[in-house]
Amino acid sequence: MKSAKSKKKALTPKIFVANWKMNKSYDDSVLFARNHINDLAQTILQTGHTVIICPNYLAIAPINAMLGSSGPMLGAQNCSRHGFGSYTGDTAASSLAQAGCRYVLIGHSERKRFYAETSIDLEHKLKEALKAELIPILCIGESEQEHAEGRTREILEAQLAHQLEIINAAPTQPTTYFIAYEPIWAIGSGITPEPHDLFVIFHWLAEFCTRKSPVAYKLLYGGSVKPANAASILATKHLDGVLIGSASLEFASFDSIIKADLLS
Ligand code: 13P
Repeated sequence: MKSAKSKKKALTPKIFVANWKMNKSYDDSVLFARNHINDLAQTILQTGHTVIICPNYLAIAPINAMLGSSGPMLGAQNCSRHGFGSYTGDTAASSLAQAGCRYVLIGHSERKRFYAETSIDLEHKLKEALKAELIPILCIGESEQEHAEGRTREILEAQLAHQLEIINAAPTQPTTYFIAYEPIWAIGSGITPEPHDLFVIFHWLAEFCTRKSPVAYKLLYGGSVKPANAASILATKHLDGVLIGSASLEFASFDSIIKADLLS
């Protein structure tokens, strides 16, 4: 019979990013942090994983005030394409960094779909994020139709190529950047790519990033990640973590995803 001690597995550190989108109010975001920051810190200690929470802008500073040095870190869901000035309603990357963010999502497909963000917008946002020393999480992904037409790689390459040039040319090169592959058809649909398709995409992404930039990168997958499929998704070669939408809203499901490799 195995002792409790021998059950503990040697885990490969992974990255778990919660994208709360606009699904939590300010009050609910702060309450989640108040109720669960210590539990999350405990899970991080137990697993050695990295946990990043992306709340709405307003909740960033109050949640940051509750964080300790060993708990989750904060990311923003977006940033302005401008650095400073008369841009009513916008929030600069530098302000997000001052409020406690270390990461920022750039080009989430919902930003492109609902706010018509273009690749030029994303390039400006990336430059601003790098200036503010935020680690960019570059979101890429193909539509259902592009997927059906077998154009995934071509689409991802087009979305990434110029962004990697910006990273390479940045006056202060970042120590790392993240890429989150989120097929648009997998977001919120309950459908995820087949394991072999994930293997092929991440194998190609790793090769592409290594070839195009000397800067270290981490590769994430996003789209319908749940406690039930997290372990098998995380087993994909070259995958460093996951970007989670709806299953990150409840502590229990978010925590089970972070512990998926312990529980499997
Ligand atoms: P779901 O996990 O709800 O599919 O959302 C994924 C996502 O868009 C994360 O950025």
